[in-house]
Amino acid sequence: MQKDKTDRGRRKLVLGAPALLLGVAISRPALALSPTPRQSEGPFYPRSIPTDSDADLTVFDGVRAPGEVIEMAGRLLDAKGQALPGGHIEIWHCDINGDYAHVGRPALPGFQGYGAVRTDVAGGYRFRTTLPGVYPGRTRHIHVKVRSADGSDLTTQMYFPGEPGNQRDGLLRRAGNSEALIARLEPGPPPRYIFDIVLS
Ligand SMILES: [Fe+2]
Repeated sequence: MQKDKTDRGRRKLVLGAPALLLGVAISRPALALSPTPRQSEGPFYPRSIPTDSDADLTVFDGVRAPGEVIEMAGRLLDAKGQALPGGHIEIWHCDINGDYAHVGRPALPGFQGYGAVRTDVAGGYRFRTTLPGVYPGRTRHIHVKVRSADGSDLTTQMYFPGEPGNQRDGLLRRAGNSEALIARLEPGPPPRYIFDIVLS
């Protein structure tokens, strides 16, 4: 009986050890993070920034865009893992038919296609938009352009987990650390794609 109690005591101690180790890790100043890979801007950055370019891309000119509503959210960080507040984050992507707005081609009514926000005090950002369609030669993606408050910049693309086209997409496959470009899905609703951006 006494031995059982002693064993339970040891087990508690052993279980407690990882928590203690975690505590040590958290108290360290910062951990090095891999910078988010750069990707090409592509030809569809808006030729003129639309009058409505807020964080909700699902409504334009008072019209609601067709498509599945999703959120894209995350944090802007430096390579030491420190939050970067006041950063400018722009996104642009195609509509459900694979067409981009603001490039001289018609897109669906209500499709804002572009949005920009500033990161908050914790480096956080969030957009509400519709799930992009897919156009020939590319897997599903959202273009992202970032400029931190101190002028560091990055142009890249966010990809969606579980897309069959991810295996065939040349741009994604050529990225040095392609896993860092694939968002993490939180089911929602609405489904939320988490994409943390690390500047070098
Ligand atoms: Fe694109």
